[in-house]
Amino acid sequence: MDYQNILTAFNNGITTITINRPTKLNALNKATIEELHKAFDAADKDADTKVIFITGSGEKAFVAGADISEFANFDVSNGGQLAAKGQELLFDFVENLSTPVIAVVNGFALGGGLELAMASHFRIASTNAKMGLPEVSLGVIPGYGGTQRLPQLVGKGRAMEMVMTAGMIDANTAKDYGLVNHVVELEELMPLAEKIAGKIMRNSSVAISKAITAVNANFKDGVNGYETEIKEFGNCFGTEDFKEGTTAFLEKRKANFPGK
Ligand code: COA
Repeated sequence: MDYQNILTAFNNGITTITINRPTKLNALNKATIEELHKAFDAADKDADTKVIFITGSGEKAFVAGADISEFANFDVSNGGQLAAKGQELLFDFVENLSTPVIAVVNGFALGGGLELAMASHFRIASTNAKMGLPEVSLGVIPGYGGTQRLPQLVGKGRAMEMVMTAGMIDANTAKDYGLVNHVVELEELMPLAEKIAGKIMRNSSVAISKAITAVNANFKDGVNGYETEIKEFGNCFGTEDFKEGTTAFLEKRKANFPGK
């Protein structure tokens, strides 16, 4: 696939998607969101891809937000559509993928950038990363799920303060808040992501996808997460991975999961 705003690479079971607009600090314009949708969809459907990384090009930014120049003239209707389309194509889409998505936060993750990181299944960051939801400083609110996912991750009080002040927190504060799982120097960030992906890839990809569904169910209105867990737990017993995993354990050998 020929992309203008992103790069994709596959190596050792990992598809890395890199937002590549460094002169605009990788801001998310409409075209980039559409390309990201296609790239995430293709990676999720690719049987060889066991983990997806999302990151930004350059050493300064993961993503500095939605592209402000694109929506500055929008009216009420355009604004609502922007949020709805973005959530559908990218943010909800990423959260519900069956392949694990790790946000590799290599610099500023602001507005839509932090929202993309939060829609990913978990986040790691470099020491230079800075995170925030600055929307109210522009007279708007987070529209790509930020008002919902930030309180889920850091608690309502911290989320309210971050949203109201429009301020940025540094990587270590983000780790204290539980917003990112690990913080390392920039040059150690990708090696750490690969190390974590290596651990994930040793396990059953089918079971992992069912676990994602079950964990996400906790955050969906009108869905009983415990019931989802029971259903997905039961479904595991019909998979080849389950047969292989339990047989390998009983035979005291390493499992070689077929991913089915
Ligand atoms: N949308 C559009 N363009 C953006 C952008 C965004 N969200 N964030 C950065 N850019 C562009 C700048 O306009 C600038 O472009 P130019 O060189 O053509 O003028 C370029 O990226 C570099 O940004 P700059 O502001 O010069 O870098 P800086 O190091 O001085 O500041 C930030 C970095 C992240 C603090 C600053 O760019 C910023 O505040 N960005 C907006 C963050 C934001 O409010 N995001 C939420 C959007 S809803």
